[in-house]
Amino acid sequence: MKTTLTRALLASALALPLVATAGDFSPYVDAKGGISRPTDFRTGFVHLGSYAVLDEKSAARGLHDVYTEKASAEHYRKTGQFPDGATLVKEIRKLETSAMTTGDPVVWGSDAAVWFVMVKDAKGRFAGNPLWGDGWGWALFKADAPATNAAVSYEADCMGCHVPAAKTDRVFVQGYPTLKPH
Ligand code: HEC
Repeated sequence: MKTTLTRALLASALALPLVATAGDFSPYVDAKGGISRPTDFRTGFVHLGSYAVLDEKSAARGLHDVYTEKASAEHYRKTGQFPDGATLVKEIRKLETSAMTTGDPVVWGSDAAVWFVMVKDAKGRFAGNPLWGDGWGWALFKADAPATNAAVSYEADCMGCHVPAAKTDRVFVQGYPTLKPH
């Protein structure tokens, strides 16, 4: 009986790959580095903080809410680093404005327009994939095609603007109170 059990355990252990494949580290990343949009982040992740772009002429106009996994936020609070596999989601929602009893005008976020996603890769898994580099995988999803990563090259589509945050691992941490220890 004992031998049968040992054999069964050994067989199942051997059936598992000995080295984790590139896609195993994140539920949002496939083996080739394709990134999919987390859909459960509003209830399953923690909210890190918000930026608001109010200028009517700006392409970025909207409320920018940023989320990560609870465990990733806790890891950051302890170490000042995002752990391998951490996911950041920035959801931009359109702005609505109206007078309310708190003051005039009040601005809030309504329908989602786009989602920016970054997945931390501390091991350089996807060398040669133009959507991976500088320690992250980079993706952009638009509301009219939320299953398609609209970014083609992180260097062309993302990095120009994220250079000022180089000292904080490309993340604009100053707007995220959840990451602060107190
Ligand atoms: C026009 C400049 C610009 C471009 C282009 C840009 N970003 Fe950002 N991104 C920012 C700024 C500034 C912030 C923080 C302030 C804000 O949201 O307004 C930010 C924040 C983020 C955040 C939230 C976490 C953080 O880093 O603070 C994610 C995720 C993100 N960007 C992903 C991307 C991805 C992926 C791309 C490319 C597909 C991209 N960004 C392209 C300027 C840009």
